[in-house]
Amino acid sequence: MSEFFLVNGGKKLKGEIEISSAKNALLPIISASLMTSGDVLLKNCPRLTDLENLLEIIRELGGIAEFRGSDIFINAKDVSPKLVSKELTQKIRASIFILGPLLARFKEASIYMPGGCNIGTRGIDLHIVGLKKLGVSIKQEGETIKCKRSGLQGTKIYLSLPSVGATENLMMAAALANGTTTIINAAREPEIIDLANFIKSLGGKVLGAGTGTIYIHGVKELGTAEYRPISDRIITGTYLAACAIAGGEITLKNINSEYLSAMIKVLLQTNCEVLTYSDLSRESRVNLIAHDRDAGYFHEKHYKNYIKIRSPRNLRPISFIETKPYPGFPTDVQPQFGAMLAFAKGASVIKETLFENRFAYADELIKFGANLSYKGQEMIINGKKMLNPAKVAAKDLRGGAALTIAALGIDGESIIEDVHHIDRGYYKIENDLKALGAEIKRVRA
Ligand code: EPZ
Repeated sequence: MSEFFLVNGGKKLKGEIEISSAKNALLPIISASLMTSGDVLLKNCPRLTDLENLLEIIRELGGIAEFRGSDIFINAKDVSPKLVSKELTQKIRASIFILGPLLARFKEASIYMPGGCNIGTRGIDLHIVGLKKLGVSIKQEGETIKCKRSGLQGTKIYLSLPSVGATENLMMAAALANGTTTIINAAREPEIIDLANFIKSLGGKVLGAGTGTIYIHGVKELGTAEYRPISDRIITGTYLAACAIAGGEITLKNINSEYLSAMIKVLLQTNCEVLTYSDLSRESRVNLIAHDRDAGYFHEKHYKNYIKIRSPRNLRPISFIETKPYPGFPTDVQPQFGAMLAFAKGASVIKETLFENRFAYADELIKFGANLSYKGQEMIINGKKMLNPAKVAAKDLRGGAALTIAALGIDGESIIEDVHHIDRGYYKIENDLKALGAEIKRVRA
């Protein structure tokens, strides 16, 4: 059954919503829960299809893994390293994350090659090379990767590129290894820090997460944890771009604006006003705290985790944006910001350096009347104030989100088909956008 969004665009956004825990923090954290036989409870989790699929993989391995309201409960006591079905493994790229934890705990593990992805080949060579350095023998038989190890021995691992997934997989494999593992040229994303904090909350020892060198001191076993992952900076960036496109003013809560610096820098250049807690005057902070106390936000940290954007709608173009590993401009908001620049009168250039096929949304933006062209890794956008309503189709997760927020800025009725791509990373995005004043509904075709 396919579903599409019906958007009646041209309305300014207004309102505030709270951001839920990050998909890209939860996927490795859920995988890391395989390393312990203790109870794990994860708080404030959105019901994303990627998360549901990974929980299903843990259940197929023999564990308990389920949503309980907005919490996720996991107990991997009865897990055994059996080969998970190909169909399930290839539904999500993140299935590769179970290798590290299973090899941390068991002498062998096998998986089918993870799903390819519309945005690029997404190699796993760095995962394999790193696991071999830890003492794992790995052979590929057809589409399966078979791994065996006697013990895991801590060592120095140099990553030729700061791969997020390889850093996370190797952190997990090293968590129960003998001795210390040093990962050099590690990824520095906030989700890496969050995984390290989760492993520490289980009793593991990790130092340096968030820098380019991470030290993991293996421990004998891990315990239990109740943990609230960081909020989703990519969803936040998506909604900031939505407001830039549609105009108006929105506030997003429960997000640490430090994670958004590269995005904020670009938004300020487009003529949007962006306010984080630290920018607020003393008087507005007092008012915010009073308002939040009435609204039930009691923790001081809520006040720090706050971002407001005001958009005049006449956006300025950006001469050059290049996606980079964190703390550079995130590839995961490249499509959403590309959609925004389609409305910024003048020439903007975007260079995508992480994935080889992340401009699929551009062909759909052209159906909205956007004036742009792309070749290889670079896209040139000649933005214009008004685009026209059309029927478009999501081709991948972030590209689908980009088309949805583009429609918010277009007077009239637009349709975005194949919204299942978007559901992988946004839980009922239409409800969030409605709460921010958009006219959007999900229709079953
Ligand atoms: C993570 O993917 C995210 N996914 C991606 O978010 C994100 O785009 C990406 O990091 C970069 O920030 C999750 O965290 C679940 P990488 P990952 O390993 O780990 C190449 C979204 O929209 N590479 O840093 O797969 C790879 O092909 C998703 O939420 C190798 O060549 O990213 C890619 O071109 C999309 N060999 C580049 O590195 C390897 O062994 C970055 O990959 C590993 C990666």
